[in-house]
Amino acid sequence: MSTTDGPRTVVIVGASSGIGAALARAWRAQGARVVALARRGEELQQLGGGIAWYVHDVCDAAAVPALVDKLESEHGPVDTLVYAAGAMPRITPETWDTGLDRLVIETNVLGLMAWMNALAPRMAERGRGHLAAISSIAGDRGRRGFPAYCTSKAATNTYMESLRNRLSRRGVQVTTIKPGFVETAMTRGLDKLFWMASAEEAARLIVKAVDAGAHTRYVLPRWAFVGLVIRNIPSFIFRRMNI
Ligand SMILES: NC(=O)c1ccc[n+]([C@@H]2O[C@H](COP(=O)([O-])OP(=O)(O)OC[C@H]3O[C@@H](n4cnc5c(N)ncnc54)[C@H](OP(=O)(O)O)[C@@H]3O)[C@@H](O)[C@H]2O)c1
Repeated sequence: MSTTDGPRTVVIVGASSGIGAALARAWRAQGARVVALARRGEELQQLGGGIAWYVHDVCDAAAVPALVDKLESEHGPVDTLVYAAGAMPRITPETWDTGLDRLVIETNVLGLMAWMNALAPRMAERGRGHLAAISSIAGDRGRRGFPAYCTSKAATNTYMESLRNRLSRRGVQVTTIKPGFVETAMTRGLDKLFWMASAEEAARLIVKAVDAGAHTRYVLPRWAFVGLVIRNIPSFIFRRMNI
């Protein structure tokens, strides 16, 4: 439902490719007014179909309040925000690179917080709205590969839970999505991936979960079972596993 008459406004941060782009198209196909943001303007333009877009680098957190003012004045109050921007630079077991770690935390965590900080008070004041983030099963444990990425997704899970606990009494819904493996640029060339969903299939299920007001949702239900098992593997065993 919209905060104003007419279609609701859905903002997707990180919508130039992969899951975010598929979400933009899926909500647009449902008739929502969709606003897409990312750094690559050409890709955003190619979303087509009446999707509004802005070039934005989420590492520029200071730009967010003015950008939110601008997009709300041009497209109306935001009903749903989905933060889908994410970075997972390829690293090896010998990579110890603070610059890359900073990029991951700025993109996956600080950018998320900047967008939530800008929209949460507006939604709380209106007494309605929906905030969602694409997290990952990677945040459920500290894996040997991609330590900063796992940390960023654990932070996302905790942060979104805090927002939910803060905002549910103010009429704002908060959803954390853990997609499992999805075929996108982020997973291209990685081995040992299974149960891959297409970005379109993932988007279809994410739209359903967000629209149903889910709190935390693994995109394919079988990932919820995997998550349960992984969270409960004792540390001395998990350390020896190649995941
Ligand atoms: N694919 C999977 O299996 C999987 C699994 C679990 C979770 N996820 C999560 O799903 C989300 C989407 O990833 P994806 O798989 O769809 O990968 P993707 O195709 O690489 O999409 C990443 C998106 O993030 C945007 N982005 C990255 N850095 C940005 C920045 N500094 N400023 C603005 N936007 C930025 C990219 O846009 P620009 O480059 O144009 O800026 C792009 O639109 C991420 O949070 C990822 O961690 C993915």
